[in-house]
Amino acid sequence: MTVDLKAAEYTLSGLRPFPVAVTTIDEGEVNGLISLSAGAASIVPEAPRVTISLTKYNKTHDMVLRSGVFVTHLLAADPEPALQDSLAILMGLGGSSGRDGDKIGRFRTKQGVTGAPILLDALSYVEARVVHTLDMDESTLFVGDVVGAERLGSGGRLRVGEAWKSLPPEWIEQYETNHVPQLASARRYRGLAD
Ligand SMILES: Cc1cc2nc3c(=O)[nH]c(=O)nc-3n(C[C@H](O)[C@H](O)[C@H](O)COP(=O)(O)O)c2cc1C
Repeated sequence: MTVDLKAAEYTLSGLRPFPVAVTTIDEGEVNGLISLSAGAASIVPEAPRVTISLTKYNKTHDMVLRSGVFVTHLLAADPEPALQDSLAILMGLGGSSGRDGDKIGRFRTKQGVTGAPILLDALSYVEARVVHTLDMDESTLFVGDVVGAERLGSGGRLRVGEAWKSLPPEWIEQYETNHVPQLASARRYRGLAD
């Protein structure tokens, strides 16, 4: 069986329009990353649930696995100063690993009910305690009960296409370089050739 990989990519990327900033705390240490994998996981309005899929290669993955807490933030597309804040969060959390130094200290934060840092320049967030995990070989899917939520800004939601158009080309190049070992690690976890 051959799969039309271009059609698969078109379909699957269409399911992931919004980059989110995920933060966590583990034994007093804070960290976070950018993800395109966030989802809503319950139809019960009074008991919302959120999902996030984190690659095992990433430090945030191990921290959420241990601590069982995370915050998922939507980023703002406008007004212009809020877009600039969103791009700073995207570049700050998605461009390097917490293994190489603190990434959270540069941002305005407050502590959520779980202790995890809330990014005050995000558009909105849900804070969650993990209730289920699914080992997906290359990554783990975390399902969380929402224990806190807030709308922080009044602009629209930032879509990944818009973000990508506004990011500096040097940053995109650096991101793509960092992505190479992550992809190789995912292939190894899946038992595929590098
Ligand atoms: C647009 C975008 C989407 C991303 N999506 C994911 C994702 O769904 N899951 C994930 O684990 N990493 C994702 N990443 C990669 C992490 O944000 C990145 O590897 C980060 O540097 C990991 O940091 P950490 O090692 O401190 O956790 C994404 C990055 C970007 C820029």
